[in-house]
Amino acid sequence: MEDKVLVIGSSGQIGSELVLKLRDIYNPQNIIASDIRKGSDIITQGGPFEILDAKNKEDVYTIVKKHKITQVYLLAAMLSATAERHIEAGWSLNMRTLSNILDLGRDGLVKKIFWPSSIAVFGPNTPQILTPQHTIMDPNTVYGISKLSGERWCEYYSQKFNVDVRSIRYPGIISWKTEPGGGTTDYAIDIFYKALTEGKYTSFLNKTTTLPMLYMPDALKATIDIMQAPEKNILIKSSYNLAGISFNPEELAMEVKKHINDFTISYEPDFRQEIADSWPNSINDDNARKHWKWQHTYGIKEITADMLLNLKQKLKIK
Ligand code: SER
Repeated sequence: MEDKVLVIGSSGQIGSELVLKLRDIYNPQNIIASDIRKGSDIITQGGPFEILDAKNKEDVYTIVKKHKITQVYLLAAMLSATAERHIEAGWSLNMRTLSNILDLGRDGLVKKIFWPSSIAVFGPNTPQILTPQHTIMDPNTVYGISKLSGERWCEYYSQKFNVDVRSIRYPGIISWKTEPGGGTTDYAIDIFYKALTEGKYTSFLNKTTTLPMLYMPDALKATIDIMQAPEKNILIKSSYNLAGISFNPEELAMEVKKHINDFTISYEPDFRQEIADSWPNSINDDNARKHWKWQHTYGIKEITADMLLNLKQKLKIK
């Protein structure tokens, strides 16, 4: 029997691109996109689409039974900066959706689950350079607390109920197709829009704030690779450290300047600075590289060139 895949959060930054990628690889009729709101036509008309509030367990079960779903990618989440302003909503969205999906696995309705964790699971006492897989984890944001709790639940469901759940700790993800919303790493996307439209950018993080980042094609590859890996290779049941590159706003601005000579950057750190300061500078992802052969492709040069090229077309800038 062919797998039928449900993507939850298909109108979001990662979900929207993941749906297109999965529809490329598999039979598009087997990739069911879903979100609480309607997304772009390309998502809703390029294959099956359902409006779904994944916090509602009954609705989740109904959709899964209706489409005979065998795999779920849960991409719906409230990111770090927004969740600080909406504690209750962030906690309930991030936790309730996960528990509903893990229950699907426990109840034998689906065979495989993908759920992303984040570098936000780390905190001020975590070693910040090449942060190991197993280390001090003391997140101090709503988002980070929800992701760390989620990781513990994934491992629990895996051990107690044999649920095949796979997870990676996404770093900041950079992309040009769909804008992210409410993340602390979003400066690394905003900068490109502002560089092209205004020739200058005011960063909400300090110039030396180094954070782990990943370009969207690499993020999609990691997501699909871990799901396609044989179950016996997935030895970490909480969530895998994953790294691509690390840079700070000043380094990124210098790269942008190579393409846009008179680009200038200034710095006005806001509340997101404190969040960023509690996160790692770089990540040790040896386990992902060893267990399921993770490899990234894009460095800061390639990301910058590709972002500017594609955004120019998207924003119709000559
Ligand atoms: N990009 C996310 C954020 O900034 C981290 O996972 O919230």
